[in-house]
Parts: sequence; C-alpha cells; structure tokens
Amino acid sequence: MTKGRLEEKSVELFNKSGYDANELLDKGRKLLFKIKNADIEIVLAKAADVITYVEHGVCDIGIVGKDTIMECGKSFYEVLDLNFGKCRFALAGLKNKNFYEGYSQKVIATKYPNVTKRYFNEKGVDVEIVKIDGSVELAPILGLADGIVDIVETGSTLKENGLVIYEEIAQISARVIVNKASIKLKKIEVDDFIGRISRFI
Ligand code: PRP
Repeated sequence: MTKGRLEEKSVELFNKSGYDANELLDKGRKLLFKIKNADIEIVLAKAADVITYVEHGVCDIGIVGKDTIMECGKSFYEVLDLNFGKCRFALAGLKNKNFYEGYSQKVIATKYPNVTKRYFNEKGVDVEIVKIDGSVELAPILGLADGIVDIVETGSTLKENGLVIYEEIAQISARVIVNKASIKLKKIEVDDFIGRISRFI
C-alpha cells in the first residue's frame, strides 16, 4: 500500500475490517509488516511503485491513488473505490491571469506528464510539458510555466503561493488494485479481503 497520505486511512480501514494492523501505527522506518490475525503481509511503497509491484505479481493487491493510476497504470484490475484520499486534478496558475489568452504555445509544469498530455490532447490544445518532481507550484511563480497540472486537496498550497484553479480535470480517491493473475489464482483470498474491507468503506 502507498506510504504517506493514504497510510493512516488504510490502517484505520484494516483495523475496522478486523485485520490487526496496529504495528503500522508505530512503524519507524520499517517497510514490511505482518497482519497478526491473518495470512497477509503489508508492504509500504511509493505510489508508482505500488503499481509496479502489483503489475509484476510480487504483491497481489495494492492501495493507490487514482492520480497515480491515471498517470502510470497499465495492467491490473481496479476493483474498489475506497472513498478516502479525496482530491482533484486541476489546471492552476497565477491569479489575475487568463490562461488561454494570446496565441503562444503554453508551458505546463507537472509531476503528471501523461495526464497533462491526455487532457490537452482531448481539448485539441498544443502545450509544452515540463516534468517537475515536487513543489510544482514554484514553476509559474518563477516564470517557467504558464500553468501547472497537479493534485489539489485542501487548496492551501495554491492559496499560500498566490495561485488559483483555472479548470478542474478529474476527481481522485484511493483505489484497490489487483494483479491480473492473482484475481484468478487466489480468487478465494482476494474475494475474502475485498469483501471484508468493502463493508467498512
Ligand atoms: C501535493 C500537491 C500539492 C499539494 C496539494 O504535494 O502536489 O503541492 O499536495 O495539497 P493541498 O491542496 O492540501 O495544499 P505533496 O504534499 O504530495 O508534495 P510534493 O509537492 O513534494 O509532491
């Protein structure tokens, strides 16, 4: 499952569903955990790596944000919307500016180049995309980009840096994904897990 933002809610959901995941509450730097009362191991990884581990079948099930699925998802089943980790993809930029003004090609800074490419392709707008690894809000302030495509949760990062949302692109939340082979070969275990947690979403 994904380290960081989704961790607390995921542990809460496990515990509510009867899986003892309390070890994760005081985890230090550990990345691997055993659920005490079930034959389940939990792996903590960065969002994109959750997808990689599930796609390669070294993990059967993953919990990951829809943002990462939209950016780098390929080959797995998305089976459940967990309804937490809610945020949205948005096009944002400096306030008091009209993004589409003028004829010059716009520059977009983002951690999500594939999502950005698809969004502007569908609109038929040609943009240049610059990949940034974090704190992408800096790019329009420093004059590198006309806008950013990023996830917005509370909106405070935008606000505190003088940026506003121009357009909303998609709603995001945490999802459960399953490896394509595991869904058949471990059907009983996977169904049991999904069935148990879905009662507490
Ligand atoms: C994300 C995103 C925004 C911020 C939005 O960054 O890239 O910067 O959260 O949240 P808010 O609307 O609640 O302010 P994250 O914290 O994942 O860090 P990063 O910029 O280093 O990727």
